[in-house]
Parts: sequence; C-alpha cells; structure tokens
Amino acid sequence: MSKDELPNLLMSKPIPIAVVGSGYVGLVAAVCFAEMGHPVICVDNDERKVKALRGGDTLIHEQHLPELLGRYRNDRVRFTTDLGEATRECDAIFIAVGTPQSETGDADLSYVEAVTCEIARSITSYKVIVEKSTVPVYTNEWISRALERNGVERNLFDVVSNPEFLREGTAVVDFLHPDRIVVGADSERAGAILRDIYSPLTSGEYYQRPDGIAGCCSVSEPPPLLTTSTKSAEIIKHASNAFLALKISFINAVSNLCEATNANVEQVARGMGLDTRIGPKFLRPGIGYGGSCFPKDVAAFRSVAEQLGIDFNLLKEVEKINVQQKKRFVSKVRSAVWNLRGKKLAVLGLAFKGDTDDIRESPAVDIISMLLNEGCSITAFDPAAVERTRQILPEGDNMRYAPDAYEAAKDADALLILTDWAEFAELDLRHLNQLLRYPIIIDGRNLYDPAVMIDHGFTYLSVGRPVVHPARDMASASTNI
Ligand SMILES: NC(=O)c1ccc[n+]([C@@H]2O[C@H](COP(=O)([O-])OP(=O)(O)OC[C@H]3O[C@@H](n4cnc5c(N)ncnc54)[C@H](O)[C@@H]3O)[C@@H](O)[C@H]2O)c1
Repeated sequence: MSKDELPNLLMSKPIPIAVVGSGYVGLVAAVCFAEMGHPVICVDNDERKVKALRGGDTLIHEQHLPELLGRYRNDRVRFTTDLGEATRECDAIFIAVGTPQSETGDADLSYVEAVTCEIARSITSYKVIVEKSTVPVYTNEWISRALERNGVERNLFDVVSNPEFLREGTAVVDFLHPDRIVVGADSERAGAILRDIYSPLTSGEYYQRPDGIAGCCSVSEPPPLLTTSTKSAEIIKHASNAFLALKISFINAVSNLCEATNANVEQVARGMGLDTRIGPKFLRPGIGYGGSCFPKDVAAFRSVAEQLGIDFNLLKEVEKINVQQKKRFVSKVRSAVWNLRGKKLAVLGLAFKGDTDDIRESPAVDIISMLLNEGCSITAFDPAAVERTRQILPEGDNMRYAPDAYEAAKDADALLILTDWAEFAELDLRHLNQLLRYPIIIDGRNLYDPAVMIDHGFTYLSVGRPVVHPARDMASASTNI
C-alpha cells in the first residue's frame, strides 16, 4: 500500500499522541495508535534505537510489527529523541518507559520521573499524561506532584492510568483486540480524551476495515472500556499480573503433587479448567513464569502491600514456588543423566516464552546458568533469542549456540525443551533420536504426548506426568522422579 492510500478513519477524530519509550510496549502502542488513525510521535532517548526504527528495523521479534511499521514509519508515526517537541505537538503523552525491579523489590520509577521532569519543561497548553508503564498505586500522584514542582500549573495537565495488558508474541493483536481497555481517570476532561483515542476500537469502526489486523473483536463485539479511578486502574494492572502468576505457581505446585502420586497434571488441569469459574488459561505447568513483567510486578505488588501494612504473604509463596520450580527441573535433569558434571546437553529455547526474542527473567536462561555451574556443557538453539542471550551467556568452552534444533542435538547426552515455541512441538523425532548420543528428552513445557515419545524410543521426562521409558512396557514403565 502506498502512503497516499493509508487508511484513515473518517468517523473518529485523530488525536496527536506522543509515546515515550519505544520498547515492547511503546513501539507496539505507537504503530497501533497510528493504525487506529492517530498521528503519533514516538520518543526514545536511545539514539541508535531511533535511527534503526526510522530505517524500518523493528528491533524486536513481534508478529505484525514489521507490517505496521512499514505502513506508518516516518509518516503517521515519527521517531525522535526530542521529548520537548513531542510534548508541545501532542495532546496526550503516553509514558511507556521501563519500570524495572529495584534491589528492594519495589518498582524503580526513576525513568518515569526523568520523563515527567522533561515533559514539565515543555508544557504550555493542556496535556493528558498517561501512565502506560506498569506502576504502583499512587504513581499518578507522584507524577502530578513532580509536574507542579517543576512549575506546571495544575490546570494544564491531568494524569490518567491506562495500563497495558498486551502479551509479547501476540502484542499487536492484543493491543487492537483487547479483552478490555482500562482508563483510570479522576478528571472527566482527561477521561473523554482517552475515550476518543480508543473510539476506533470501542465503536467497532476499526473492525470494519478490510485491511485491519484480524483478532477476536468485531463490529458486533468491540472491546469494553472500563472507566475507574486512577488508583483503581493502577491496582488492576498489578493485581492482574499477580493473579496470573499465582495461577501458574498453583498449577506448578499441583504438578509436583502429581509427580509424587503418579497422576497426570494435564488431566488434572483439564478437569479444573472446564469449570467456568476457573477457566483453562494459565493452568499450564512448566518451569515457572518469567519475562519482564510477572516477576517484577509480583515483587512490586508485594512491596506496595508491605508498605501499606497489608499482609499479602500469599505473593511470597507464589514467588517461592516459582524459584523452586526451576531448581526442580535441574534435579529432574540430574535424575535422567545421573551426574551433571561433564554432561553435554542440548537446549531448545532461550526466550522466556515462544514467539518472542525477550530473555528478560527467562527461566530457560536461569536453568542454563544453573547447569553450567554444575559443570555441564550446553549447546542451545532458539528461533529468535540467540543474539540477545549471547550478550549475557557468551559463547565459550561450555556454552555454544547452534543454528537449528538438530545441530544442537548432535551427540548430546540429553535434550532439554525450555521454551514453548510451536516448532519445538513438531520436531522430526526419528531424526532427533539418531542425532542424540542417548535418546533422553526432558521437556519443561509438556510439548509432547508421552506415548508418542515411547513409540520413538525416547526416555521422556516432562512436568507433572509420569516418566516413560521405551525399553519397558507402558504399564510398568511409569516411574516417579
Ligand atoms: N513487555 C511487556 O510485555 C509489557 C506488557 C505490559 C506492560 N509492560 C510495562 O510497560 C513498561 C515498558 O515495558 P517494555 O517491555 O516496553 O520496556 P522496554 O525496556 O522494552 O522499553 C522501554 C524503552 O524506554 C526507553 N526509555 C528509557 N528512559 C527513557 C527516557 N528518559 N526517554 C525516552 N525513552 C526512554 C528505553 O530506551 C526503551 O526503549 C514497563 O513498565 C512494563 O512493566 C510491559
């Protein structure tokens, strides 16, 4: 499509938007707002990133992002390092910078503060400042205070919370087809601007477009927009992530119980998930949650509760189970190969989950580090995350990277599956068996049916299911770890 033919949404009013931070959330938000018809200035203080984005490099692995960036870059979406200019030109400023975990477990809000102070220097007319980053309750008040302390009159801004619920790997679809849009606004004026921004989605208008990104929302079923107080919206985001992490830790604890009793956690999870009050999602056992959100958000939520004098020790247990789950997996590897020292292991998966190149807090990386400390040598493959992993686990005598799954498997004492990439569930098992020194697979993501693995001659260990061995008959083969 040429730029002259760019789709414009005739009914909705375009609103000039600045997005500060062009990472996983900021970049996706910027191109999706453009897709909804708004002119966007995307700001980042990393000059190399800005240059790359202007040149059309998305920098992250995310479905539909190249397509949307190609459609709008340097036109409806401009990239710049100049936050002052973006502030002056736009009505709404979305802050989407990182809020990493500090040493105490709190969210480190120094990037949010730095951006706030810079915005303050350029406000000359009314702006809505939008918290898109995940922040603890009361952050909106801190932003307001910082703006006023830096000389901005109170009538020139409102701060609203519009938390982001996208998942890496399906970020664009999630943004344009959200389960819900949450707008926490204590001012009617600011709330109205946010409602206008999202109206192409909430009115269903976007879903009429023949070239729109497909997803679960439609003209007849557009996403709901929930208006709340600013504090409620801040809490909704932290509570949602903490609850999802809790669900994962819960099923992981259940999987350990299944291993101890020779039950099958997949059957248990299905039996639970069919209860509509529980639902099937996030009941997949594995090697623990990771990524840039759950670990830090659970810690930050717990820390906020502590500071407010609320006993929320439940979250400590969630974290504890998550740490133990990775250690259990290493024990499982040991139980399969006997001694770890000197063992050559093939690893499939480095990203914290499939369909992304993000390795932040990846359980796969943690497990590899533990195995390296135990004296194993690792040959790893990931479809997208090798380059990022190389930076923290450099290639050396014991750490190597392979160009594909089969190269990784060559002569290995066992093969470990650590990330749920779809392609890892479709391996040529016969070929794999020939390549491995010993036909042992330890699957941290339950990608295979144990019966199929027996048929292909593998000893197969997974999570919360009986171990199976090919040499013995099925009835007697199931053992505990
Ligand atoms: N990644 C996710 O899946 C996800 C989902 C929902 C919410 N969130 C939240 O969104 C926020 C951003 O997460 P992310 O994964 O996109 O982070 P990220 O690290 O990928 O991106 C942050 C960007 O902000 C830029 N930045 C930092 N300081 C800046 C400044 N002063 N001026 C301009 N740019 C600056 C960085 O250069 C970087 O490009 C976090 O609070 C996160 O918790 C993330």
